[in-house]
Amino acid sequence: MTLDDIMALAPVVPVLIIEDVADAVPLARALTRGGLRALEVTLRTPAALEAIAAIAGEVEDAVVGAGTVTSATARQAAARAGARFAVSPGLIPGEGLEGPIPLLPGVATATELMAGLERGFTAFKLFPASVVGGVPLLRALSSPFPQAVFCPTGGIDAAKAADYLNEPNVACIGGSWVAPKAAVAARDWDTITELAAAAAALPRRRAPPPILT
Ligand code: 3PG
Repeated sequence: MTLDDIMALAPVVPVLIIEDVADAVPLARALTRGGLRALEVTLRTPAALEAIAAIAGEVEDAVVGAGTVTSATARQAAARAGARFAVSPGLIPGEGLEGPIPLLPGVATATELMAGLERGFTAFKLFPASVVGGVPLLRALSSPFPQAVFCPTGGIDAAKAADYLNEPNVACIGGSWVAPKAAVAARDWDTITELAAAAAALPRRRAPPPILT
């Protein structure tokens, strides 16, 4: 699957911090049951790569990716674990379109966007979206950079999601609000499925391209 296909799967990509690998599969199942299929497991915990492998092996409906990928080595390790895409908070030195799995690089400014476009990327994570300018920044970037599409992430919650998804240059948004820490700790998978279903039902302005699986 290309990054465009992955971003088209659902309007929201859950950003997951998995502390206990035993939570990985039930959490992924709770989210996919709600209709969110592209899942970003951040490489911030010792359990992350094992969690990715477990989800890749056991949750058919999930398209699992790695988040917080900050080096070429981490991109490779994520791919080896079974991740099908990688997300970075920034531009990784030396990393371009070529690589073991598609990469969604993070940008926060026009200059970073220009550097990413120069490397061939057209899809970007806007990060941290709510801090660097949010919806007004996305609008300001749309005119000089009509070829760029975004997955804004950082500080977005259920209340703010609709405004972001209403922007024509937003393919999807990322966020952790669909898998709250307390619900994961309580193994309250039903609540997570409800949050996921509400997120999956959010309308988006940008028509997703046909999905080729
Ligand atoms: C992150 O890197 O933690 C993501 O951007 C998620 O941000 P959020 O917790 O504000 O949704």
